[in-house]
Amino acid sequence: MINEVLKVFRELNKRDFRVLTGIEMGMKHFEWVPAEDLNKYTKLPSEKLNYRLKKLVRYNLVVRTFQPYEGYQIYFEGYDALALNTFVKRKTISAIGDEVGVGKESVIFEAIKEPELAIGEPIPVIIKFHREGRTSFKQVKRVRDHLGEREHFSWIYAARLAAQREYEIMTNLYPKVSIPKPIDQNRHAIVMELAKGSLLSKTKVLDPEWYLDEILRQVKLTYSLEIIHADLSEYNIFVAEDCIQLIDWPQYVTPAHPHADELLERDVSNVLNHFYKKYGVKRDLEEVLKEIKSESESERGTEAGEESETKTGEEGEGEAGEEIGTKTEADLESDVGDDFKEDINDEFEE
Ligand SMILES: Nc1ncnc2c1ncn2[C@@H]1O[C@H](COP(=O)(O)OP(=O)(O)O)[C@@H](O)[C@H]1O
Ligand SMILES: [Mg+2]
Repeated sequence: MINEVLKVFRELNKRDFRVLTGIEMGMKHFEWVPAEDLNKYTKLPSEKLNYRLKKLVRYNLVVRTFQPYEGYQIYFEGYDALALNTFVKRKTISAIGDEVGVGKESVIFEAIKEPELAIGEPIPVIIKFHREGRTSFKQVKRVRDHLGEREHFSWIYAARLAAQREYEIMTNLYPKVSIPKPIDQNRHAIVMELAKGSLLSKTKVLDPEWYLDEILRQVKLTYSLEIIHADLSEYNIFVAEDCIQLIDWPQYVTPAHPHADELLERDVSNVLNHFYKKYGVKRDLEEVLKEIKSESESERGTEAGEESETKTGEEGEGEAGEEIGTKTEADLESDVGDDFKEDINDEFEE
């Protein structure tokens, strides 16, 4: 568990991080990174390297095999430690607190960010560590299929891609749509502001009509920016006294997605069902959907037909939730490559 990571995090020094980064780099090419190659990646002499490796194995940050050769793999916990270290170095976070949630495909921790230029109060933030590769075998399999014979493909790619995808869409939507402010992203982790209030699923609001209207208004706004959440429900909506916020975006789709209409309909009916069951507030699904699409469609209708066709072509995506596999192998390579470069610079500067 990541709690363990927090315990050992303080015990880790630059060299340990360098070895972790070396294994991370090696996992681009190997399922089990050969001990020999680590000398090369880390530029550490064998004796020092072995000492670090033993320590990392003892701390459960990496795992070792001796068959068919001595090799190493990073655990999620080791990967968490690398992301955490980067956030600390960038001053994105200055302290980390308790676990605040475990989602379907993530672990979430509370943390503190110092204010810009040290003016004002520290800002409460959360760190979302993506866990796609481990918890969603289906998703990994899709990426794996996509990568063909690359047997050594690891969860690192799936989790990193999901985090990149979520961070990117959040930076596009914020502040137009009411979502927590995205702050930083590294590897499989995102830092964002703490959402206000509490989850809709855990709350009983006093003015359900107002909250329902506000949620639908945000869905409409999102749709007008050509985004559909695609996993909307009372579990991904925060409600506070005077606002609502939508969270959990990695599976979003665009209206060009072949199942866009079904996904939008599912999002909206989840919300309507919740308000009907819990508060007896009734709305007509068809009417609500029509209203959400109304202005967007007229806007899109006025665009040159050619333009929207190109868009459809470019964004033609596979099945729902398959977007993670839509990047080409070259994209994956370059994403990972760039990040690796950045990570290496980070870890190797003395
Ligand atoms: N910005 C946030 N502020 C406060 N709590 C959050 C925030 N983001 C996520 N959480 C908590 O973590 C849980 C899981 O996060 P979520 O983004 O929904 O991931 P998952 O895909 O795993 O469901 C949420 O249900 C919520 O309790
Ligand atoms: Mg969620």
